[in-house]
Amino acid sequence: MAPNEQEMRDAAETAAALVQPGMHIGLGTGRTVAFLLPAIAARGIENLRCVATSPETESAAGALGIPVEPFDQLDRLDLAIDGADQVTQDRWAIKGGHGAQLREKIVAAAADRFIVIVSSDKVVEALHPPVPLELERFGLAATLRAVAPTALRPDAAVTPDGGVLGDYQGAIDDRQALARRFEQTPGVMGHGLFGPALIHRVIVGGATGGTT
Ligand code: 5RP
Repeated sequence: MAPNEQEMRDAAETAAALVQPGMHIGLGTGRTVAFLLPAIAARGIENLRCVATSPETESAAGALGIPVEPFDQLDRLDLAIDGADQVTQDRWAIKGGHGAQLREKIVAAAADRFIVIVSSDKVVEALHPPVPLELERFGLAATLRAVAPTALRPDAAVTPDGGVLGDYQGAIDDRQALARRFEQTPGVMGHGLFGPALIHRVIVGGATGGTT
């Protein structure tokens, strides 16, 4: 077991305990979420309605008997739970290590409470690059120029929504201003900067961890 796996599991189990019968739940993507899914399934909670932020999560949840539906009928969620690549004490995070940041942000924004679950190694003093981006293929070279310095992922990965994945490699001096820059660039479908307006709570696994 990797040293931080127990912390991921702890954070995931703490978050799973927040799930209540009848809730509408958003399920994130990644290794930490892989501990969340069995923790939810083990509770045998009734009348859950869930949406998933990636095909991987959808199939893993389905295999555990967690009902997942397309995210086109539910217009709000009670709770969304997801991992992060970095998180600060003031609830800024970088997400998208697995390339799901667009769907993850849509799900987080639809949730009354968005909870981030991390191992303690994800907690940082200040966010640092890369910031994952999902980019429209149309006009890609112009978009890359607008968000320079950004590198496409080596495998030129394409998302389920048809976007191309890249990583912004520049400095993150002003998080808000950088988020605004991405949001004002039409070819950016989604970016991995998540602020405290979206994140209601961070659960850090492990004895030295805590929640903010
Ligand atoms: C996926 C994400 C993940 O939550 C993030 O990359 C953390 O993943 P892991 O739990 O595997 O470390 O944002 O796009």
